[in-house]
Amino acid sequence: MKQLKDAPIGVFDSGVGGLTVAREIMRNLPQEKIVYFGDTARVPYGSKSKETIIRYSRQIVRFLKTQNVKAIVVACNTASALALETISAETNLPMIGVVEPGAKVAVETTRNKKIGLIGTRATVKSGLYQKVIQKSDPEIQVIGQPCPLFVPLVEEGWLKDEITVAVARRYLEPLLQQEIDTLILGCTHYPLLRSLLKELVGDQVTLVNPAYETALELKRMLEEQGLLREGKKEEEFPYRFFVSDEEEYFQKFANSILPYDVKSTKQIQIEEY
Ligand code: DGL
Repeated sequence: MKQLKDAPIGVFDSGVGGLTVAREIMRNLPQEKIVYFGDTARVPYGSKSKETIIRYSRQIVRFLKTQNVKAIVVACNTASALALETISAETNLPMIGVVEPGAKVAVETTRNKKIGLIGTRATVKSGLYQKVIQKSDPEIQVIGQPCPLFVPLVEEGWLKDEITVAVARRYLEPLLQQEIDTLILGCTHYPLLRSLLKELVGDQVTLVNPAYETALELKRMLEEQGLLREGKKEEEFPYRFFVSDEEEYFQKFANSILPYDVKSTKQIQIEEY
């Protein structure tokens, strides 16, 4: 059991976005080791079909298993919405995604029962956030808004640029017209736009960050299964990073947002898994 507790957590995303989830895991579970995989060769997932996202996710799970992970976090809203159910039924490892933890907190947060959801087209279209929320409270209305332009703007580093402000205004307007009081940041990149979005929606709207909620849920899950790593943080290689394309851009982005100096990233051929 000690050996299993000591094993790393596998975290994957379509690219760099899941680093916002990894960051929350690092902050909230500092003693845990992480193996992160970013599918930088095949990003974005948000405009792809369910079948494709399942196929990609299956390959990634196979790869993470070769790294002897003790649990898997699907740190991508799109993969959580479209593939998690299928891949978790196929593997014996504990697995969580970002949708359920985010949806749960949104239900606890809303007072007027009007929740806004922003995410990729695939996530919004999947209806999974709506399904999970309405299972808890059928009276809650979920108003979805795909925001496909946010991902490239974040990757460009335009977190406060006037172009990003104009795009965000346009996306948020229909949600604000419906008088939402809670807004789910249903895409891994959006927590990086948090302060800009907060300014635009004002104090009446509470932002829900599924990345943070997922880290807390992961802690509960590991505790429940007796898998929480004990003792101090491993100093030497607590975090390992793998990508399917171009290490340099990934590493630069990772170093701009993580509380950890990423010195090496390894490229692998994910299609071989
Ligand atoms: N990581 C994806 C998500 O959270 C956003 C990027 C993509 O479309 O692949 O939905």
